[in-house]
Amino acid sequence: MAEILNEGNIWHLRNEWISYALMELPGGVLAHLYAGPRLQRLNPVGLMRRHGVDAEAFTVQECALDRLPQEYPSFGLGDMREGALTVEAPDGSCAVDLRLVCAEILDAKPALEGLPATRGEGCAAARFHLRDAHTGLEVELNYAVYDDCAALVRSARLVNRGEAPLVVERAYSLCLDLPDADWDLITLSGSWARERAVHRRPLVAGFQGVSTQRGASSLQTSPFMALARHEATEASGDVLGMALIYSGNFIARAEAVCTGGTRLLMGLNDRDFAWRLEPGEAFTTPEAALVVSTAGVGGMSRAFHTLWENHLLPKRWMGAERPVLLNSWEAAYFDFDEDKLLAIAEATADAGAKLFVMDDGWFGHRDDDTTSLGDWQTDLRKLPSGLKALGERVRALGIGFGIWMEPEMVSPDSDLYRAHPDWCLHIPGREGITARHQLVLDLGREDVQEFVYTAVADTLKESGAAYLKWDMNRNFSNIGSAALPANRQKETAHRYILGLYAVLGRLTADFPDVLFEGCSSGGGRFDAGMFYYVPQFWCSDDTDALMRCEIQYGTTLVFPPSTMGCHVSAVPNHQTSRVIPMATRFAVALGGSFGYELDPRRLTDEEREAMRGQIVFANATQQLRLYGAFYRLRSPFEGNDTAWMSVSPERDEALFTYVRNRAVPNVLPPLVKLRGLDALRRYRVVETGEVYGGDELMTVGLSCPVPSLGSGDAWSVMYTLKGEDEA
Ligand code: GLA
Repeated sequence: MAEILNEGNIWHLRNEWISYALMELPGGVLAHLYAGPRLQRLNPVGLMRRHGVDAEAFTVQECALDRLPQEYPSFGLGDMREGALTVEAPDGSCAVDLRLVCAEILDAKPALEGLPATRGEGCAAARFHLRDAHTGLEVELNYAVYDDCAALVRSARLVNRGEAPLVVERAYSLCLDLPDADWDLITLSGSWARERAVHRRPLVAGFQGVSTQRGASSLQTSPFMALARHEATEASGDVLGMALIYSGNFIARAEAVCTGGTRLLMGLNDRDFAWRLEPGEAFTTPEAALVVSTAGVGGMSRAFHTLWENHLLPKRWMGAERPVLLNSWEAAYFDFDEDKLLAIAEATADAGAKLFVMDDGWFGHRDDDTTSLGDWQTDLRKLPSGLKALGERVRALGIGFGIWMEPEMVSPDSDLYRAHPDWCLHIPGREGITARHQLVLDLGREDVQEFVYTAVADTLKESGAAYLKWDMNRNFSNIGSAALPANRQKETAHRYILGLYAVLGRLTADFPDVLFEGCSSGGGRFDAGMFYYVPQFWCSDDTDALMRCEIQYGTTLVFPPSTMGCHVSAVPNHQTSRVIPMATRFAVALGGSFGYELDPRRLTDEEREAMRGQIVFANATQQLRLYGAFYRLRSPFEGNDTAWMSVSPERDEALFTYVRNRAVPNVLPPLVKLRGLDALRRYRVVETGEVYGGDELMTVGLSCPVPSLGSGDAWSVMYTLKGEDEA
């Protein structure tokens, strides 16, 4: 159970796995005492001495803040490191001196105004009130620690209690001061079709980290970073993971400082950001999550997975069936009409899938990507019977109908743009820069939010869709809003994300049974902010199974399999031209929310038969694959193979997948040590009938059959393990 202990000037937030402690120093300075594995008792003097601070004799003079571990450090009063908070006062100065006013242990975790955040059940929550006497700025630091995972969440709320406007120039969500720098930094970076590759390197003196100023959490990186002890592996050792529940510009940085310590900061990126706070107004930062693992990078991931699954992802979809779907994009691109779609839908139903998704190209006069975003009227040239009739005809086949939209965008060639040129992000007098021939709607505006809500709601109602793919295919440029005065222009990008959340919040509340899948040129906004609204996200436009091994491996560092949209596509693959056996394409797509991205009519009879069997298997293993405990076993970033497994909560069932990239002749069979099983139990490998002890599978390993000569590249094997009681 999570609990918050308060003794004098010490607050200790903890649960079964983690402890997090704060301390008030003389003068009301709020120091950070400890974050890590659970401690039974704390010695504040010793914990502070790690940083070279004498807790009892502390004063802020002589730049003593420069080595003090602080909960929410600011700029300009003696701490020379980067801080978490910068606020400009009416006199033009930027120093803030926060002192603790009081602390409260809360009965319930409050929701965050306008922002996604972990929900309030099953946690202990506390709030610390700090104040800067010079400006009247108040800062509330909010914390919660959960009962069921090694995770703590925190956020800050700034209130202007002064008499003059203040300008918030930086307000991060998390600061963590550690007494050493003997860590590796792990981040995720990539690009289109290569999202979330794992990067691990030792911390070096100075700054390092990741950030984005693209307007979205981005294809290029993720709002996540972790510190792992140099010796920590996938399965053992100390790791601290941090993730931001936010979908826009963020920054995550580590500063290894000259005294030997490390400061970690995470929050809204302050590039092109400033927020004006009139007297009485408040500003809330996104929430950041901190997880602590003593079981390596894998332990960190499972703590994140539990946190998101139990406290963030939409409850309606947790543990619920995800329909096996077929998406029309790679089957038809823009080239379709009603007959073609219905023929594909019929073949989809015939194979046993549950949902047919019509992707881009159904509205305006969109024969390619140069036009019509914003004109969400059905293109009657392609679909003469209309959207309603199409939805009905698909449902008449016994399957659900799903639809694609890109609601946040407008094509310059559209009626919407011609009617409202000022509805897009733009800077008056400057040429608008298009990307994929489109401009970005200014979602910070209420009239634009209303338009987007209505366009999506009307489409869902007319089509009767059970599923919506919400796409977003370009990053921001020309960042400016016609709805804001000059001194609020730097609020544009954050207001956009708040507007996006407002619209998604309304739509998901009004259409609770519609399955929303996020997409952003693949996985370009794959973040915990989006996962408050959508239970799954298209993981990548790259459907090549070998590339997917890497992309899905990196993604699971932070997010559980249920969040990843993963489809079997045609060969040669449309992104890489590689030809990969169908069995391997299937095994890899089973790593997430499963579907197809191909024209089933072009499959051979044999492949169509295989597809039927695949769908039966996907359904039968869905609970285990999507919601079981997830273990990465082999990293594609370290060798010629990838392996992973999912284990049921009772540890009586597991699904193991192994993929070898390149065929290598004349080598011993792959031997993979399994994890997460019951050491004392016997397991039968269903596919071979072989029986092993759990301890043998975890200490010796499971040897996979040697691929016969000529089995080729991208060979895979999948095993179902069933626990057996001793006779
Ligand atoms: C993006 C998506 C694709 C597809 C196209 C349609 O690239 O990631 O899956 O929906 O848009 O234009």
